[in-house]
Formats: sequence, C-alpha cells, structure tokens
Amino acid sequence: MTANELRSRYISFFTSKGHAEISGKSLIPENDPTVLFTTAGMHPLVPYLMGETHPAGSRLTNYQKCIRTGDIDSVGDSSHLTCFEMLGNWSLGDYFKKEAIEFSFEFLTSPACLGLPLDSLSVTVFEGEEGVPRDEESAAIWKALGIPAERIYFLPRSDNWWGPAGETGPCGPDTEMFVDTGKSACSGDCKPGCHCGKYIEIWNDVFMQYNKQKDGSYQKLTRTCVDTGMGIERTVAMLQGKKSVYETEIFTPLIACVEKLTGKIWGQNEQDDISIRIICDHVRAATFILGDPKAVMPSNVGAGYVLRRLIRRALRHGRKLGIDGSFMAEPSLVVIGQYRHAYPELGEKESSILEELKKEELKFLETLKKGEAEFEKLLPNLLKNPQRVMSGRLAFKLYDTYGFPIELTEELAREGGLTVNREEFDEAFKKHQELSRAGSEQVFKGGLADHSEQTTAYHTATHLLQKALKMVLGDHVGQKGSNITAERMRFDFTHSQPMTADEIARVEQIVNEQIRRDLPVTMEIMSLDEAKKSGATALFGEKYESSVKVYTIGDFSKEVCGGPHVERTGDMGTFRIQKEQSSSAGVRRIRAVLEKSGS
Ligand code: ALA
Repeated sequence: MTANELRSRYISFFTSKGHAEISGKSLIPENDPTVLFTTAGMHPLVPYLMGETHPAGSRLTNYQKCIRTGDIDSVGDSSHLTCFEMLGNWSLGDYFKKEAIEFSFEFLTSPACLGLPLDSLSVTVFEGEEGVPRDEESAAIWKALGIPAERIYFLPRSDNWWGPAGETGPCGPDTEMFVDTGKSACSGDCKPGCHCGKYIEIWNDVFMQYNKQKDGSYQKLTRTCVDTGMGIERTVAMLQGKKSVYETEIFTPLIACVEKLTGKIWGQNEQDDISIRIICDHVRAATFILGDPKAVMPSNVGAGYVLRRLIRRALRHGRKLGIDGSFMAEPSLVVIGQYRHAYPELGEKESSILEELKKEELKFLETLKKGEAEFEKLLPNLLKNPQRVMSGRLAFKLYDTYGFPIELTEELAREGGLTVNREEFDEAFKKHQELSRAGSEQVFKGGLADHSEQTTAYHTATHLLQKALKMVLGDHVGQKGSNITAERMRFDFTHSQPMTADEIARVEQIVNEQIRRDLPVTMEIMSLDEAKKSGATALFGEKYESSVKVYTIGDFSKEVCGGPHVERTGDMGTFRIQKEQSSSAGVRRIRAVLEKSGS
C-alpha cells in the first residue's frame, strides 16, 4: 500500500463512520508564540479539545503535515524524519474509549482497510497512578475484540500518557497499537515500547480527559475527547515490510534524484547513505516549510532559523558527496511533484520555494568561501606549530564569526596536514549553545500558549481593530496575520503607507468606544457561502472548512474565526496602539496592548 492509498483509505473509513473531513492547517501555528511548528494533528485543534464548538461537528478526521525538530540530530538514521504526515480522527465530546478502540481495531484488521493479521497486533494501556485509574476499561475492550491478554501490556505514564503538547493544555492516558515485525526479541524483557525494532508503534488513541494547569495540577475537562495519530511514513514502511521509510516510494524517487546529482549509489557506503538521507529529509522539510501558506523565510530566529539549519546542513552533505554549487531545486521539484495533489499549496508556491532555496544556498556558499579564504590566511602560521594542531578556540572563532562549520574546518585542516583540537572546540561550542539556548528554550521545547482570559481578550480585540482600520483607512485593509501573547497583540494588515498620528488616535478611539459599549459577542455556524453573503470578513488565503464559525460583536463586526472570544467586550480594558510600522512591502504591523484600569 502506498502513502497515497493509506491516506485515502483512512479518510474514507472515518468519513464512513460519520466523521467530517477537515483540511489540514499551516505548519506555522497561528497565535501560539510558544511553539515553532505544528507538531501533531491535534495541535490546530487544541481550542476545540478544550471545549470550543467545531463548525464541522463532533467527529473529525484529517491528514496534517507536521514538523518535529527535536530529532534534527537523529536525522540520517533510518527512522527519524523532520517532516511527516499524521492521520487523525477526533471525537469532541462524542464517542469515547469503546468506539475509538473499535474504530481502530476495524481499520487495522479489516481486509478493506489495512488487513493486518490479528496475531501481529499488540497494544499497550495505562497502568494507572494516584488519581488516574488503571485503564482496565480499554484493556477489556481490546480483549473483547480478540487481542489476547498476554498481548495487552499495562505501562506507566512515560509510555502511555500523551500531552500536553506544551506546558499546559489537554492530555490524558492513551492506548498504543504495535505491529510485531517478526524479528526475534532483543531480550527476555522485549515488549511494545522497546526500541530494538521488533515492535513498531503505528497508532495512538489518546483519551483527553484533563487540562494540565500552569501549577502542574490536572483539571478535568468539561467534556472528554479522543485524539488519535497515525504517522503515514512509518506505517507505510511497516505495511510494505520495509526496514526503513527510505525504502518506500515516499523516498526512493528523491534518493534516485540525489544519486543522479552526486554519482553516488545508495547502499554502498554507510557514510554516503547518511548524507543522502539527510539531504532527502532536509530538502523535503524545507520544501514544505517554504511551500506553506504562512511560509517563513530563512533567518536567524525561530522557525526561520530551523529552516536555515535544514538548508545549510543539506548543502554541507551535498558537498560531502561531491556537489560544488547549489543543487536543491531538483530534489525539491521531486517533493513538489509527489505532494502537489495532497497539498496544492506546494504547487502554487513552486517558484518561490525554488527561489528561496537557491538564495539561501548561494548565501551559505558565500559564507563557506569566506571561511575558506580565512583559513588559507591562517594556514602558514598554523604550520609553524610543531604539533600541527589548530586550537579549538580558533576553530570556534571561524564558526562564530563566519558561520564556518567545524566539520569543514577539520576537513581543511586535514588537507593542510593539521588536526583540530576538537575537545576544546566542543567545550567552547557547548558554552555558546547553553547561552543561546537559554533564550530560546521555551520555543524549542514546543508548547501551546494557554488560552487565558487575556489572550481571549486580545483575540476579540483583533476583530475590533480590523473593523476600525477599515473604517478609518478604507476597505482595502485586510488582515495578513496576527500574533497574540498574554502581554500584547500584533496585527498585520494591507495598507501601503504609514498611518498618521491622527489615524492612529481615531482607530484607538473607535475600538475603545466598542469596549465601553459592552457589546455581546455571539457565534453562529454556517456555510462559508452564507458567511460571505452575511457580510462576514474572512482571512484572505486561509483554508476554511465548508462550514465555519462566524463571530459577531454587537452591531459592529462580523468575522469568520475559530475563536475563542470574550462573551462581552466590557471588561477588555483600554486599547492602546504602541507601535505602527512596516512589516513588508504593502503590509503594516500594529503592536497594541489592552491596559487594565489602574495599570
Ligand atoms: N496527539 C497524539 C500523538 O501525536 C495522537 O501521538
């Protein structure tokens, strides 16, 4: 079964069970300052798992592109991927353990779906702990379906608890499904959850019952939900009996492309294979990031920095395999061709994907050239050193000043008859990393902003602001993006010149007037067409479901939006614009706060 077949079988199965297919979302999370990328199918659904009504109903299914960067250094081995697709089905206060497990069982074993033999399946369930019971209920459901007791394993929180995705949010015990590859056990203790390769985890049903609070306590959710996730690449490899995702049709065309570019042959040299895998994985991930409707560009911060690292690391491995110049257009085109059907945005953005890849490649090549020139200058002095050792401090300086990777310094040193004091370099590097990590720890850990009252108020303020801007500047104003933290909001909109002080004052005045009027905020679900006919504003370029939520603020504003919002505007505080500046060509950015009286 190919990835395309798996995707469509999964979606048809769950739609036949009353689930609405919703579209996958952007890789760049909206209004979530604590996470760089969408890391699971549930991620864009957090507000709904927490209690918001979803316009498409209480049973949902989709496929979602995801990026996980925690494993970036494991890329190159046979199983870790930076970019992957996740299949999921959700119950929002609808069915719970019984139906969820029955659906999973039917999809895994039915010949019309995956048709896996019953005796290849094992499952794990939560063993329980203080406050959360041992999950005998799930075990009994599996048993009734035919999984014998000896293949139902009770495991602790480290194995059978999922979430929250960040510090706070929805979470709960889960039940995981494993396929026995038939490999012999690595030890007497080998069981599902062991990483020796005998058991492959392919699916996870999470029973969302709690909302983890900032203080670490667990609050029961008002309604229980089910969140499931099945990784496409890994499942396809298992179904095809392949040892690695790189042996499936997902990667073979990409590998062939890299073979053609480098003249290397896959499977002949382990070091070359690692480089080929890194190139394939990274070009694929970079193509998806650049092909996203909310694409970030390579930069030195946040998601842009991850993108830069992916491109640069791939380029370095290309050089290792003998490619001198930029080369990513070809493998990127292979990825676009493979996925333009499932992710039309990749086709639409083809030219900008290729252009940005090339720009970053050339920039890095320039860096490499400068570093090489610098190294040449240093060489005569270094050769005077009788031990022929280049100090780690000097190697670090090349890295820090020119962005020159240590592997290259070592390579050049080797060519010049020198070695590098790697220990000293590693020490300097570690110190540097600790410093820079301290600042970005939060975002790299991944996590979700909590939906505190303050962020909810900012959500509502973006609607008031958008309408006020249209009134003051004209109807050409359209939202280009927003970003909310508990401390402030940012709002990007189309407008070609700076706002005058008078315009800013008028916008503030209009927004504050609506807050003073204590307008009610109401929500209705309707079709996208009805929403547009009703005059609701919708975000340009955003993908919507066929039915949407429309939030109306009194007689003032009507917008398509997922929520959440305050119930009335009265308690929001005083709206003040702190900054108005250019964001990009034709787009302005406002930074604003809601000040509580007395503060
Ligand atoms: N959210 C769960 C996971 O990612 C299903 O495994």
